[in-house]
Amino acid sequence: MTVQPAQQLVLRQPDDWHVHLRDGAMLQAVAMATARQFGRAIVMPNLSPPITTVAAARAYATRIHEALPDGSGFQPLLTAYLTDTIDPREIARGHAEGVWVACKLYPAHATTNSAAGVGSIEAITPVLETLERIGMPLLIHGEVVDPEIDIFDREAVFIERHLEPLLGRHPGLRVVLEHITTADAADFVRSGPANLAATITPHHLHINRNAMFRGGLRPDFYCLPVAKRELHRLALRAAATSGDPRFFLGTDSAPHARAAKEAECGCAGIFNAPYAIESYAAVFEAENALHRLEGFASEHGPRFYGLPLNDGRITLLRQPQEVPSRLHLNDAAGQAVDLVPFHAGETLPWRLL
Ligand code: DOR
Ligand code: ZN
Repeated sequence: MTVQPAQQLVLRQPDDWHVHLRDGAMLQAVAMATARQFGRAIVMPNLSPPITTVAAARAYATRIHEALPDGSGFQPLLTAYLTDTIDPREIARGHAEGVWVACKLYPAHATTNSAAGVGSIEAITPVLETLERIGMPLLIHGEVVDPEIDIFDREAVFIERHLEPLLGRHPGLRVVLEHITTADAADFVRSGPANLAATITPHHLHINRNAMFRGGLRPDFYCLPVAKRELHRLALRAAATSGDPRFFLGTDSAPHARAAKEAECGCAGIFNAPYAIESYAAVFEAENALHRLEGFASEHGPRFYGLPLNDGRITLLRQPQEVPSRLHLNDAAGQAVDLVPFHAGETLPWRLL
């Protein structure tokens, strides 16, 4: 007797706990790629200018809803962008009013639109004390910006120099180390307290740093934190598929226009939203862990954030699908925005119904 692999996978509707939906024409072009599969998403605040006030967050939420068809049911969960001077009372007010659910800490100059980020973590102690008191999660881009530190070591050094001391100073703070890329980060989170969690992207589960240099320079595989060695990719796959509730889905889908990716100084970011759940499903199946996909994609995140699980279900079919090399997505005016999706030119084994 041979056992046939399942042809269909029904999952509680997942959420994306880290995404860049952008603004303007780009928002209008990409919002549906996220909303068609995810019930909710933690939306990053690194717009230009960044989201640092309750009023700006409210207005951004409206623009996100306007970019989607009526009744899409998608719920954006907004975040506040921390600066050296942001007022903790503004953060607490936005939290109490339900406008934003978490704060994002970008070390200044770590990545896209982070120039206004935090210069000194110690200097925002009153903000961190407020977050600890009101139970609002702190989401961290965990890389040092010290140019003396090798770019492939910046996450591990951040953990040692900043994250460990921060958790020591604020033991009650709920922290998500975003888009982890190293075995060091996975180990640190696994052995840390229950109020520490991490998101893992599909691209860091699929590619190692060789992808950026395969036959030439490949900007579509450049993101931050940058992909690391194969041993780190394997450690991330083990963490994501382990069933540990501190690891959950966060795509870090980060679309940039072609010209911005292929420039003299190209932007960091991989646009993985269109095939995100299929991308994760491919990893979980290859690791013989499809039975753990639902926990990672649909349960661990809401439990960490203290939110209800989604009621809806999605269905994945075992139907190979080719990912196009380019996507032409329309903005509200019908103008096409051209983007290269993650997995361009590959065939994925599962297809979202
Ligand atoms: O690759 C990235 N792109 N990493 C980030 O941290 C930011 C993001 C973006 O906004 O483009
Ligand atoms: Zn991000």
